[in-house]
Amino acid sequence: MVGGPTKGTEFRPVSFNTPKPLFPLAGQPMVHHPISACKRMPNLAQVFLIGFYEDREFALYVSSISNELKVPVRYLKEDKPHGSAGALYYFRDLIMEDAPSHIFLLNCDVCCSFPLPDMLEAHRGSGGIGTLLVIKVSAESANKFGELVADPITKELLHYTEKPETFVSDLINCGVYVFTPKIFGAIQEVSTHREDRANLRQVSSFEALQSATRSLPTDFVRLDQDILSPLAGKKQLYTYETMDFWEQIKTPGMSLKCSALYLSQFRFTSPHLLASGDGSKSATIIGDVYVHPSAKIHPTAKIGPNVSISANVRIAAGVRLISCIILDDVEIKENAVVMHAIVGRKSSIGRWSRAQAEGDYNAKLGITILGEAVTVEDEVVVTNSIVLPNKTLNVSVQEDIIL
Ligand code: GDD
Repeated sequence: MVGGPTKGTEFRPVSFNTPKPLFPLAGQPMVHHPISACKRMPNLAQVFLIGFYEDREFALYVSSISNELKVPVRYLKEDKPHGSAGALYYFRDLIMEDAPSHIFLLNCDVCCSFPLPDMLEAHRGSGGIGTLLVIKVSAESANKFGELVADPITKELLHYTEKPETFVSDLINCGVYVFTPKIFGAIQEVSTHREDRANLRQVSSFEALQSATRSLPTDFVRLDQDILSPLAGKKQLYTYETMDFWEQIKTPGMSLKCSALYLSQFRFTSPHLLASGDGSKSATIIGDVYVHPSAKIHPTAKIGPNVSISANVRIAAGVRLISCIILDDVEIKENAVVMHAIVGRKSSIGRWSRAQAEGDYNAKLGITILGEAVTVEDEVVVTNSIVLPNKTLNVSVQEDIIL
């Protein structure tokens, strides 16, 4: 589920020119990580990216990832948002073309190890129509997610509340599911029920007009509130708890944290993608670092940990990079430092300059973000700040948003 442009506001300014699902984490588009997890499933028939971004934004990516992974990946565009379950239902005929026995549904804005084979095995043993990936989080952070109660023995989902105001449980919904095709029946029931209620209102009551404006369109169905909550405790849904890493990626700060998590996962899944720093002509590499093959890095630069460098980046002598994402076509000049920052495409950082932050990934200005085509002139320090695209900075700034 890749969603669409209206959902990405918290992700600005990095989502101005790139749809959030294509923003690189560990050098690969965000959506590449769940697709790679699907690729590891035996008998995979198809991968569908379902969203309401324009087709052209995904066309190139979908054809390159299909070639690279040798998996059929298609982008299916909704004409309007249908909600996370409604979107699946909208494309049910296409999804059922290969008569799949199971359907995995993955939110694109979560970062985890996607333990799909383990989930499928647990699901097969349960006899239900769906199994959710769940994780224990701190009681203070649980209310940002769907909170749930599961049977400790059978793992059945007993109770589910989406982002409750009062604490229910520290066990939360990870946004990763496996379903049998019976899920389509459950979604259809919600739509039909809504249609019936809407028709009833039309023929009766004075409140009709008022309540009709409050109710959702019949084809807009949310997986959490409309499906998980009512089906809990009916022996239809089960849970699988992950003990591995899991994070949600709603802000640019979290994308830096998740880039680090995926880089460290590469040590086990794709070690060839990590820079080694071997050889006298290569820069010094510390910890997990991704460097696109087209990037040019001076051998006296020192890079890492948690650095991801995209295509055609040029890094000059004496540069130091720590915990950052450097997007395409960026130039970083001699002796500059970038630390806890995202540097947008086509930006340039001058000699002896710094783009830096404390690295509090949950705070609004906890990382520094330079939008697309930002120029930081020589000897300028940008600290804990967000700079919108196409700006030139010739004086230092701190804890500021440059519009
Ligand atoms: N195609 C499509 N169409 N995708 C959608 C739509 C839609 O109309 N609405 C949401 N999505 C996608 C989003 O892009 C995201 O990948 C996923 O569905 C869930 O988004 P939201 O419905 O906005 O929910 P959320 O992210 O705030 O919370 C959900 O995920 C959490 C885990 O990250 C809930 O399911 C929580 O319970 C859960 O903890």
